[in-house]
Amino acid sequence: MMYRFVFTQLLSRLDPEDAHHLVVGALRLLSVAPVVKRLVHRRLAPRDPLLRVQAFGVHFPGPFGLAAGFDKDARCAEALSALGFSHVEVGTITAHAQPGNARPRLFRLPGDRALINRMGFNNAGASAAAKALGRTRGVPAVVGVNIGKTKVVPEAEAVHDYVAGAKELAALADYLVVNVSSPNTPGLRNLQAVELLRPLLRAVKEVADGTPKRTPLLVKIAPDLADEDVDAVADLALELGLDGVIATNTTISREAVSSTETGGLSGRPLKARSLEVLRRLRSRVGDRLVLVSVGGVEDVDDVWERLLAGATLVQGYSAFIYEGPFWAWRIHRDLARRMRRHGVTDLREIIGRTAS
Ligand SMILES: Cc1cc2nc3c(=O)[nH]c(=O)nc-3n(C[C@H](O)[C@H](O)[C@H](O)COP(=O)(O)O)c2cc1C
Repeated sequence: MMYRFVFTQLLSRLDPEDAHHLVVGALRLLSVAPVVKRLVHRRLAPRDPLLRVQAFGVHFPGPFGLAAGFDKDARCAEALSALGFSHVEVGTITAHAQPGNARPRLFRLPGDRALINRMGFNNAGASAAAKALGRTRGVPAVVGVNIGKTKVVPEAEAVHDYVAGAKELAALADYLVVNVSSPNTPGLRNLQAVELLRPLLRAVKEVADGTPKRTPLLVKIAPDLADEDVDAVADLALELGLDGVIATNTTISREAVSSTETGGLSGRPLKARSLEVLRRLRSRVGDRLVLVSVGGVEDVDDVWERLLAGATLVQGYSAFIYEGPFWAWRIHRDLARRMRRHGVTDLREIIGRTAS
């Protein structure tokens, strides 16, 4: 109610990117005020033992986290955790700092409960992110680090560029993600082709395996892959011993919306395809990989559906803009209630239950 007022009276009147910076600024304030942050964490972070879930050796206080792209420079992950996200995926971070595409590059489609963005990995680079991640955490936070290719680096040198980013960041991450699926870096999604993806993932895995705790490694894929290509990436992830797959990134399809802005579409119009890709992955790999489902998740019904379809973790981004700061808290609260109602005592009882 309160957020709806703030959204309609203030945030929706601002340029979307200015609104984003305003919110990140407020979260930064929360980040540097340890007492308030701890209080907020105590009130909003998932604490119900029922919600706990383990994936690739990492303990998550709940299944629902914030997808990559919101906290690109790892500046407010703790504050976001305090708001109730069980994990925060920071990035995409590239080896070298880069400005991203020209503004405007972020667009709201409120009628569709969607966003279109062509940010283009604007970020301060891996060293700056490493510094931010190295600072002590005032509240418990599970932080995934999502890495991508620096725009000016040619495709032929992509492996080297990803490895440089991984070397700076892998040891600081609770899990590491190779992002080959954003539509806003020219040529990036070509790296999803297995013959290019194999050497890339193999090289990054070597770095991740070399950290003291052996950092789990996942790959994030696009919803626009053909089904056979989804299968091929899943097979490759198994072959290389990856820990999981994150599906999906934003789509270049405009089937469901009238806007013709270029960039990646996210939010409600992505829901059906994201779920379809999850189902495809689950039927291919069963429980041999951790599946992280993202795309169009808005409420507990969506989270429940993804868990049943085989996701161990679920993420969201776009609906956060429309639902506000209590979104993650509400989802975890509603999920715990639903589990109790159904007599479920552990999330493992429902993960993959409707999968074929
Ligand atoms: C403004 C914006 C920026 C994003 N930036 C990234 C990014 O840097 N790296 C990435 O892997 N995904 C990025 N994403 C994609 C999200 O992580 C997520 O995969 C996608 O938005 C689908 O989830 P949603 O429908 O809940 O938003 C971005 C999404 C948005 C809306």
